[in-house]
Amino acid sequence: MKVREILVTSALPYANGYIHLGHLVEYIQTDIWVRAMKAQGHQVTYVCADDAHGTAIMLKAEANGVTPEEQIASVKASHEADFAKFLINFDNYHSTHSEENKQFSELIYRRLNEAGHISTKDVEQLFDPEKQLFLADRFVKGTCPECDSPDQYGDNCEVCGTTYDATELKNPRSTLSDATPVLKTSKHYFFDLPEFEQFLQDWTRSDNRLQTSVANKLQEWFEAGLTSWDISRDAPYFGFQIPDTPSDEPDKYFYVWLDAPVGYMASFKNLCDKRAGTEQALDFDRYWAQENEHKTEVYHFIGKDIVYFHALFWPAMLAGSELRTPTGVFAHGFLMVNGEKMSKSRGTFIKAETYAEHLHPEYLRYYFASKLSDKVEDINLDLEDFMQKVNSDLVGKVVNIASRSAGFLVKKYDGILSETCAEPRLLEDITKTGDEIAAAYENREFSRAMRLIMQCADKANEYIDAKKPWSLAKLEGTEQEVQDVCSVAINIFRQLMVYLAPVLPELTANAKEFLNIDDLSFASRNEWLLGHKINKFKPLMQRIEEKDIEAMVEDSKASLAQADAPAVTENNKPAAKDKSPAIDANTDAERTDYIGIEDFAKVEMKVAKVLECNHVEGADKLLQFTLDVGEEKPRNVFSGIRKFYEPEQLTGKKVICVTNLAPRKMKFGVSEGMVLSTGHPKTGLTVVTLPDNCVIGDVLA
Ligand code: 2FM
Ligand code: ZN
Repeated sequence: MKVREILVTSALPYANGYIHLGHLVEYIQTDIWVRAMKAQGHQVTYVCADDAHGTAIMLKAEANGVTPEEQIASVKASHEADFAKFLINFDNYHSTHSEENKQFSELIYRRLNEAGHISTKDVEQLFDPEKQLFLADRFVKGTCPECDSPDQYGDNCEVCGTTYDATELKNPRSTLSDATPVLKTSKHYFFDLPEFEQFLQDWTRSDNRLQTSVANKLQEWFEAGLTSWDISRDAPYFGFQIPDTPSDEPDKYFYVWLDAPVGYMASFKNLCDKRAGTEQALDFDRYWAQENEHKTEVYHFIGKDIVYFHALFWPAMLAGSELRTPTGVFAHGFLMVNGEKMSKSRGTFIKAETYAEHLHPEYLRYYFASKLSDKVEDINLDLEDFMQKVNSDLVGKVVNIASRSAGFLVKKYDGILSETCAEPRLLEDITKTGDEIAAAYENREFSRAMRLIMQCADKANEYIDAKKPWSLAKLEGTEQEVQDVCSVAINIFRQLMVYLAPVLPELTANAKEFLNIDDLSFASRNEWLLGHKINKFKPLMQRIEEKDIEAMVEDSKASLAQADAPAVTENNKPAAKDKSPAIDANTDAERTDYIGIEDFAKVEMKVAKVLECNHVEGADKLLQFTLDVGEEKPRNVFSGIRKFYEPEQLTGKKVICVTNLAPRKMKFGVSEGMVLSTGHPKTGLTVVTLPDNCVIGDVLA
């Protein structure tokens, strides 16, 4: 096998806020991938850093009465503590406010400048006369020039959706001081992105660097036309001064997004220096010099909101300064909780720290793994499903294999496994599935990997259920068979630990101790433990209790009511003047998960009248509907809304029924459709009812 040399990064979190579960999707995804690739024997280095510059961080420090340096140092410590809790195994965690980053940012800038890719232009911007600083769009509010809605931000109107320049707002005011901003002109430095269009078009489409939906998004951006990128900000600013600027100009600083990705290189360089002269020494140039581009691989894991920076600006900056470009950029979607955007009032905006006070981080690692794919899709943390999945898969299936077999072995055979394997085919079958699991990990199809692993666990449990060692143990002369069955189970458990190690490093480390082994590398999956002595079994994972989830949600409500905001800054997207197509998480232009009209048209929804609505005996969540949907016969539909309605409240109402859902056989009968409601099963559901003049059987479109 060729040992690949791979450098991996996750996006750098801003140094003015805490880590929350939304961030953790990415760090967990990256960490699992890194661990899986390391387990395959590759040489993988995972670096990250705090993104420490920008106006927002400067203002936050001011508000906290500390220097920006003090502010970023304390946030860095808290970020590192949070990441450690979630077992994110960085090889290095650095800061963009570092000497290495300054050097590289200046180097890149100078090379771009020498090659003629930097120009200057006067820019007129809103200026806060009290705070004496230029106002980024996020720090200006006013009345929408289009629809006259008051209290709109400086880039787009949340009411009518129009985008505009902050200078177009009526009655603008600074959100920092409430002062009326004035227009002021200053010189800005620009990076000539359009010059790189051909390079970027080729780069985007080559070598499977980007997911298809991301490459398509880029295509739209190319078609809309690239514009030069404003890379400077005037003092006061917390960042690096732009070198070689004329002495009579006010201080010019690199815009935070210029030096942020350079932070990947800086963190790696910092690690190279730390490891110099050791066995793990790394050669910086082997990863970043253009001529070595094909010897090593560099991958960036990012959220879908920062594709523009990583797939356009960053490769163009690197190419323009004769450095290597990334081998791949992998974007993921956002985290929803209970099917909705995370919400402070509902307690679903959960800090990493708050989660870890109530629940084991490996539960979340497994749940995210079971949801993540190689697509740019949002993932939903449904707290009820989370509890059920972890309890049923990890505790009920996987750990159970060991707990139900270890007792017999330790009690009756002093922990010694059989000398021979009684079911070699079953073990070989699970070894073979390992190849598919490894491929799924490598392709970032973690949900597929988890499904395959659970199928292996099911096979082991079916085997144990069929052999019934607990019954055998009561019979005479079955000692060997009981030992054999339990030994097979323990061997499969060992294989499952190999497969789950990237996701559950702590559980698998404890399993190693129980199994009395050193190696859980992927290559060891077909090593059988024969005549081997295991240790006494100690519970490896507890079930999640509903009360722990409830306590976490309550704590989140309480802590966020008084706490500081999560890291939100003015620099999440290109300045409005760049007029780059919006990539803000909240704007439609950024979405990569659109469905076409043809997908929508697949869903058939009809006006239905509730002829009857009844309780279902033995089902405390269901109501049963008899619905007239304009067909020959009424339909029978079950809906999980019993907690929220008495049947008579719905009888006679007109509702919306999805009529082309495949019929679903349930314990109480067949459900032939779905009644639409809004809300969430935990917090309350409201059936969508239609006005009486809607015609039964009419299609909604
Ligand atoms: O969006 C963000 O949270 C940025 N701090 C990510 C920076 S990633 C990299 F480019 F530095
Ligand atoms: Zn408007």
